[in-house]
Amino acid sequence: MTDFDPTDLDDPRLVSGDADLEDLGHDPALRPRSLDEYVGQSRIIQNLKVSIRAARERGESLDHVLLFGPPGLGKTTLAHIIAHEMGTHVRTTAGPILEKAGDLAAILTNLEPGEVLFIDEIHRLGPTVEEILYPAVEDFKLDLVIGQGPAARTMEIPLPRFTLVGATTRAGLITKPLHARFGIVHRLDFYSPDELATILQRSARLLGVDIDAGGAQELARRSRGTPRIANRLLRRARDFAQVKAEGRLDEDTARRALNLLEVDELGFDEVDRKVLAVLIEQYGGGPAGIQALAAAVGEDRGTIEDLYEPFLIQEGFLKRTPRGRVATQRAYEHLGLPFPTRGSQADRQRSLF
Ligand SMILES: Nc1ncnc2c1ncn2[C@@H]1O[C@H](COP(=O)(O)OP(=O)(O)OP(=O)(O)O)[C@@H](O)[C@H]1O
Ligand SMILES: [Mg+2]
Repeated sequence: MTDFDPTDLDDPRLVSGDADLEDLGHDPALRPRSLDEYVGQSRIIQNLKVSIRAARERGESLDHVLLFGPPGLGKTTLAHIIAHEMGTHVRTTAGPILEKAGDLAAILTNLEPGEVLFIDEIHRLGPTVEEILYPAVEDFKLDLVIGQGPAARTMEIPLPRFTLVGATTRAGLITKPLHARFGIVHRLDFYSPDELATILQRSARLLGVDIDAGGAQELARRSRGTPRIANRLLRRARDFAQVKAEGRLDEDTARRALNLLEVDELGFDEVDRKVLAVLIEQYGGGPAGIQALAAAVGEDRGTIEDLYEPFLIQEGFLKRTPRGRVATQRAYEHLGLPFPTRGSQADRQRSLF
């Protein structure tokens, strides 16, 4: 037996919600298949149950659904569950793949009645592709222009009724007309540690990992409210448990594994800490513009906005103000820095909120 070497498994983005190749291999096996199996997001699940049951009773396809929220919270999972609950299949594509209007037209004309069309990263559809989507989702028809110049004519092709499920991490980037065509819009929230612990117990069962409640809680606390991260930490901690603790993943083993992987008690990684440190040390706690902040951290703006900021904001470490991002007292405390109290930072911040 060799010693456990964390650098073998080293992944600078261990606690990023974005999927890596390994996740993509494991995701399908760990995905809940039905609404009843789905843990958390209870408001969304209750609403979907009503919508789906009503549509089924009327013998209709479900209204189009837009799901948005940070990576790894369960958008793709929900799209598959919706199809399953409607007793149909899901066809999957993604905004960046659909380069030409014809690409989407080909998919649409091949749909079976009632099927779910899942378009991931729907905010990345090009304008010409988006335009043919409008009549398709609204009136279930395609308006195709055939030929060019004076000889051009439009042809109307009827489509079967289907349900579009769109997913995006960037609700703000969806055009108004596209947004308006979804009858059901849900924003996924980060999961509570208890919900994540339940998800971890289920994943551990599926993977055959021997975990106890304390081990699940410890992993859950450090998973940034994100099931994909929880499942990833479970796989890493399982390796550690196998080598160091005879395969048993209890609280102490989970803690030692995560410490070795440098995932801190809040699930922050070095980018989270850097965002806060830069904001405090280079910008006096803010306000700082997102562009400048991203440049100083050495990440692109979208990565900061999609992957890092939402959790930091939800946990109360960062605030978004009209003048830029501001570090909160919690951020100072987490980094072990004194929070400026009088006449300076604190007053400036107060005047902003
Ligand atoms: N509510 C849940 N219960 C149990 N497991 C979940 C739940 N939500 C997500 N997961 C797990 O997390 C993994 C990631 O979820 P999913 O792929 O649906 O996220 P996503 O929101 O589509 O992410 P992305 O924005 O990167 O596409 C899934 O494979 C599944 O194992
Ligand atoms: Mg997805």
